Amino acid sequence: MIHATKRSQVEGERSVTPNSILAEILRDLVTASDAGRSATPVFRESLARAASLASGLDGYLEQCSSPPSSALVSLMQQTRDHDWDAAVHRGDVSKLVEKEMLSGPVEGLFLQMLLRISGAYRVLDLGVFTGYSALAMAEAIPDHGVVVGCELEPVVAQFARDAIDATGSTDAKKIKILVGDACETLKDLSAQNQVFDFVFLDADKANYIRYLTLLRENNLLVSGGLVCVDNTLMQGEPYSDIVSPNGKSISDFNEFVKQDDKLKKVIIPLRDGITLIQVDG
Ligand SMILES: C[S@@+](CC[C@H](N)C(=O)[O-])C[C@H]1O[C@@H](n2cnc3c(N)ncnc32)[C@H](O)[C@@H]1O
Repeated sequence: MIHATKRSQVEGERSVTPNSILAEILRDLVTASDAGRSATPVFRESLARAASLASGLDGYLEQCSSPPSSALVSLMQQTRDHDWDAAVHRGDVSKLVEKEMLSGPVEGLFLQMLLRISGAYRVLDLGVFTGYSALAMAEAIPDHGVVVGCELEPVVAQFARDAIDATGSTDAKKIKILVGDACETLKDLSAQNQVFDFVFLDADKANYIRYLTLLRENNLLVSGGLVCVDNTLMQGEPYSDIVSPNGKSISDFNEFVKQDDKLKKVIIPLRDGITLIQVDG
């Protein structure tokens, strides 16, 4: 193994988490490579250890968490089986849609846990895609609860409705999908005096600041309500040198949230990063 010092970025502290150990191994590998020591068995062994640390995490999280319901498994399969490229090429959708947009089992379980702990039952799902987060959340709220989903693309919203119903889930009836730009839908919901305890924000990243502002300005959230925001680590871009338009949007959003002392927030490094924001008053 190359890592001789076992020090994290914080001087004097040992690396004790998968990510900090991985970072340390990689830093040592760069140093070894710069010194021309990359063709050694030790180098290869460290490289293999780094690959194993990085590639094992997501599968292990899934293995050690509760299994998703059969309805969620079915929804995921229907999403995977659909030819999204063809839908994009036919012009059925105005923007790129791909099966990788689906949030997935561990994130679904995480949302369910938050809903059960908080007792939230009026839920807003901004960015439905094929309905995985919507159905996962519907499963975790009581029968009188509701998940209002907002989806821009009519074809995608219809797919979600059909796919959710095809799972045969008894929770499907709690889900209502509204088609259109979520900014407009939020204003409509406010005009109808609707309020929510919990929001999952997973639509277009460029509008994240706008969504959070609209939620607050239009009193769409109860006091103490939770906003759970997906992709706030955006493939690591906000803290690395690579910045795509989505990375810039997320970077700006994270800074916006950070600067607002009225918001209690924490970023969880689950999948592509989830920020939990509690909005008081
Ligand atoms: C990442 S996907 C959502 C994934 C979903 N939450 C899940 O758990 O599988 C983002 C979705 O937001 C939709 N979207 C993008 N811009 C939007 C907008 N302005 N208003 C409403 N939905 C939007 C996209 O069409 C896409 O279906």
